[in-house]
Amino acid sequence: MTRRVGSSSVGAQRIPNLVAITTSSRRSCSARQRSSSFSKGPYISAVSRNVHPITAVQSEYSLWSRDIDREVLPTLRELGIGLVAYSPIGRGFLAGRFSDPERELDEGDFRRSGPRFTGENLRHNQELAAKIRELAEEKGVTSGQLALAWVLAKGEDIVPIPGTKRVSYLEENWAARDVELSGDDLERIEAELPQVAGERYDRSGMATLNH
Ligand SMILES: NC(=O)c1ccc[n+]([C@@H]2O[C@H](COP(=O)([O-])OP(=O)(O)OC[C@H]3O[C@@H](n4cnc5c(N)ncnc54)[C@H](OP(=O)(O)O)[C@@H]3O)[C@@H](O)[C@H]2O)c1
Repeated sequence: MTRRVGSSSVGAQRIPNLVAITTSSRRSCSARQRSSSFSKGPYISAVSRNVHPITAVQSEYSLWSRDIDREVLPTLRELGIGLVAYSPIGRGFLAGRFSDPERELDEGDFRRSGPRFTGENLRHNQELAAKIRELAEEKGVTSGQLALAWVLAKGEDIVPIPGTKRVSYLEENWAARDVELSGDDLERIEAELPQVAGERYDRSGMATLNH
């Protein structure tokens, strides 16, 4: 199934006539295709060539979710497919939106129990958020802007879609377009940032996706 997701939004500036293949497109594929991970490179390539041309793929991509660097992103680039980067600020954590999920987030918010937001992983990931804050302060921007600027700097073919309920964050995030990161900045950020601790989702969630 294809779904037109925008023609005048931020995405349209970089990927005209943005069309996303949703996960339900799996249903139109053979069992053999389904058994391989949904958005692994070969799968995307097979769907794009044999089922339907793909304009954009949506996947999590941020300073702490870079699994797609290995295989998916190179495939997208080879095929001229854009990336819609969801949760580009790590569901708020990379922007310092919260540091103690259990205390600060509503009951029922999945981040209160997510692998990256609990226990020892949370303590470790707080160091990661602190490093982002330090690098952002050096640049004179906010942590959220640095996280978004990093995604934007990774390529013209990547469109981050940060989410928020607040106009102030929306404006702050929009201004991240003006944050310039040089090649040296990117190298330094990537070298100095501690590795993330914990998977993106719990075990059952991880079983439903690729990366
Ligand atoms: N395709 C998929 O499977 C999938 C999965 C997840 C998400 N998405 C989509 O991706 C988009 C964004 O993802 P997301 O909302 O999960 O993650 P996100 O954009 O990384 O983070 C959103 C969180 O960050 C906070 N935030 C936003 N801007 C901020 C700022 N400047 N400073 C501090 N905190 C800030 C928001 O706070 P407030 O809540 O206080 O505003 C919210 O809690 C949404 O459109 C969502 O639908 C798609």
